[in-house]
Amino acid sequence: MEVLRICGEIPLHGEVYVSGSKNAALPQFAATLLSHEKSILKNVPDLSDVQFMGEIISELGADVNQLDKTTWEINPANISHCAPYELVRKMRASICLLGPLVGRLRKAEVPMPGGCVIGQRPIDLHVRALEGLGANVELDKGKVVVDAMNLRGSHIFLGGRNGSTVTGTSNAIMAAVLAPGSTKIESAACEPEIIDLCNMLKKMGAKIKGIGSHILEIDGVNQLQGCTHEVIPDRIEAATYAIAAAITKGNILINNVYAEHLGSFINLMNISGVAVSNSEINQISVKSEQQSIQSFEVITLPYPGFPTDLQAQCCALACKAKGISILTERVYPSRFMHVPELLRMGADISMEGASCMVKGGINLIGAPVMASDLRASAALILAGLAAKGKTWVQRIYHLDRGYDSFEKKLQALGANIERVPQSKLPKSF
Ligand code: EPU
Repeated sequence: MEVLRICGEIPLHGEVYVSGSKNAALPQFAATLLSHEKSILKNVPDLSDVQFMGEIISELGADVNQLDKTTWEINPANISHCAPYELVRKMRASICLLGPLVGRLRKAEVPMPGGCVIGQRPIDLHVRALEGLGANVELDKGKVVVDAMNLRGSHIFLGGRNGSTVTGTSNAIMAAVLAPGSTKIESAACEPEIIDLCNMLKKMGAKIKGIGSHILEIDGVNQLQGCTHEVIPDRIEAATYAIAAAITKGNILINNVYAEHLGSFINLMNISGVAVSNSEINQISVKSEQQSIQSFEVITLPYPGFPTDLQAQCCALACKAKGISILTERVYPSRFMHVPELLRMGADISMEGASCMVKGGINLIGAPVMASDLRASAALILAGLAAKGKTWVQRIYHLDRGYDSFEKKLQALGANIERVPQSKLPKSF
């Protein structure tokens, strides 16, 4: 086990390069299974979740080769419909195997993902989509078992109590592209990761209209071909570096980022006094050196609303913003596991239902803290970068699931952050 040791209060400067998007890459690995032919994915981030996904589809029978750090070749000529529990249980995103297995093999067995710390993560909408397409879905000994011998195009409504579903939409699309007839998906998620999946599927020969909107129309085809596809940049990683610059009062340039994917975030930064602009194509600049950060209000919503995957990091930023900030979760109402750990660093945060109120402008003090999930890990590291003294972030395997070379990229921006063995963690503080 390793921990991250951070010595804070150093303004970040320089340039950082953003990796490919985790949440785009994972369903794209699954999408390669829709064809018998070889596909190549480029700009894939180097993450443990990606390695898990590679292992899972290799267990399913695909020939999976990582050609270099960011390029994967997948040849799924012969695959089985049963996903292995031991690997699937490690990663919730493996639920997005359902759609491709159903589309190509007309049957699937995928262990049901359990709940997790960011909240309940039901799959009723995934089931609704598959049943709507004519499949029979049952839960058997913890597995989602799908018989889709009568798969056919249909009209599906995918809205849920917390909005549309991202991986549920991916599953519906991936089953529908090979379903006979026409499918209309209403209240589809329209996150950039869904658009990227649709663009990849179109290269494979899928017929999809309405890409980027909440209504998708799909004409099923008999078969798909392999393709070469480059994964879009990770908008959440990019925004996390922007917050790192803001919270340390630094100035940085972020490369390989699509500013158009970060509209709600860039707007929030600008109104709170952090100058974020689209300096060049695929580059944003963040300037926080001269300005004090003002308090802000965040309400997370499905895209193009403010991303839930940035709420924890903004909570850390709010600790340094002048005044009272309010952050409300509308996607995962209990995604606040970072709050008790930020309190250990001297933050002044109170919870009220799915909102937290942060009294900002305080001095954070370094402390040993525990990461509970991916975005909470990032939030604690950001707080550590701004804190006086040393912060020790434990359970960083959560971080490695979703941030490619995080501490190395921060080091290149001047941060004093180091990965050390757990044994180096002091016994007392
Ligand atoms: N929901 C249902 N029923 C369903 C599916 C979802 O009620 O059948 C609810 C969820 O409980 C939640 C809301 O709908 O309240 C949205 O969930 P969604 O299905 O969109 O989430 P997801 O597809 O499981 C993806 C990302 C998450 C990100 C969410 C929201 C991937 C692999 N994961 O999850 O990413 O938070 O969308 O944008 O794409 C992360 O990267 O840290 C992460 C958790």
